[in-house]
Amino acid sequence: MKKRILVTGGTGYIGSHTVVELINAGFEPIIIDNLSNSNIGVLDGIKRITGVEPIFENIDLKDYVSLNKFFQKYEGIEAIINFAASKAVGESVKMPVMYYRNNITSLLNLVELMPKYGINHIVFSSSCTVYGQPDVLPVTEQSPIQPATSPYGYTKQVCENIIRDTVKATVGMKSILLRYFNPIGAHPSAEIGELPNGVPNNLLPFVTQTAIGLRSELKVFGNDYNTPDGSCIRDYIYVVDLAKAHVMAVERMLDKKMKRSVEVFNLGTGTGLSVLEIVNKFMEVSGVNLPYQIAPRREGDIEKVWADPSLANKELGWKADTPLEDVLSSCWKWELKLQERREKDQQNS
Ligand code: UFG
Repeated sequence: MKKRILVTGGTGYIGSHTVVELINAGFEPIIIDNLSNSNIGVLDGIKRITGVEPIFENIDLKDYVSLNKFFQKYEGIEAIINFAASKAVGESVKMPVMYYRNNITSLLNLVELMPKYGINHIVFSSSCTVYGQPDVLPVTEQSPIQPATSPYGYTKQVCENIIRDTVKATVGMKSILLRYFNPIGAHPSAEIGELPNGVPNNLLPFVTQTAIGLRSELKVFGNDYNTPDGSCIRDYIYVVDLAKAHVMAVERMLDKKMKRSVEVFNLGTGTGLSVLEIVNKFMEVSGVNLPYQIAPRREGDIEKVWADPSLANKELGWKADTPLEDVLSSCWKWELKLQERREKDQQNS
């Protein structure tokens, strides 16, 4: 019998890549998603990659009654990976109530129902945003948590605490909190990838959309930071490497290898790259000349952050080892695929 894993937000960007890796590792993922920031076609992409169409339920996690019915219908779920959340920093500043409701209510419903259905394990998508601008780099899991600078960031801190408190109060419950750095890239097959809504906020989708001609130029937000080339530094982590870490976290839980009932892991490469380094490397890999100009700093940006991933390397046996060239070419291949789709849609309309 394959072990059943509930993946909330499983048609989303990181969720869909994780579903593929779970299937590859012999699990039976079940997806819950309300398709608020994804689309049902992602299931076809997963099927084309794996040969398996995962079970899918269109449920809003805020809806306690529907979630309860879901757990009645699907017995034997051994772990939950909770991706479902709103994730745009700027949007969260404009719509704080929506962010608190989406991200916190959903998690509360899950952790309230878990003991009722004998589910003891939950992996939670957290973020390096909890560290703010760290005083010391690289960032370890012991680095201090800084006051959040956006409602989005605050939901990640609150959700981590909700999990810690619930685990403390619930016999047998365990959790792994994964703090992602900057996820980028697409599946090498280009069957699944990131589907940004409207004008992308994140660097890589903006880069590829500019390269394909959808945007006239990239704005590099600031070249006067205290970094070697003046642009901000981030730790860009390949989404497939990130997805694999979730499978390892689930295996660690189910194989009873956890050393504490809540464990935290940074998921990054350990290498910081500047915006300009990414831009130049992308041009090299794609062969496309990317129009860009230096623009003022973006409000709320931190100067530099990168991970110390050694705990995840040691304890999960995980390493982000995909070369940057391959990661960036997966971004480009995915954008070319999206362009094909856009052209087809235009012809059909
Ligand atoms: N950038 C540009 N031009 C753009 C877009 C981004 O120069 O058009 C720069 C940003 O200023 C920043 C870097 O590219 O220096 C990365 O920006 P992203 O928006 O891609 O990512 P962030 O580091 O701002 O945000 C990411 C996640 C958040 C998470 C945050 C934690 O998207 O969910 O990391 O630091 F909260």
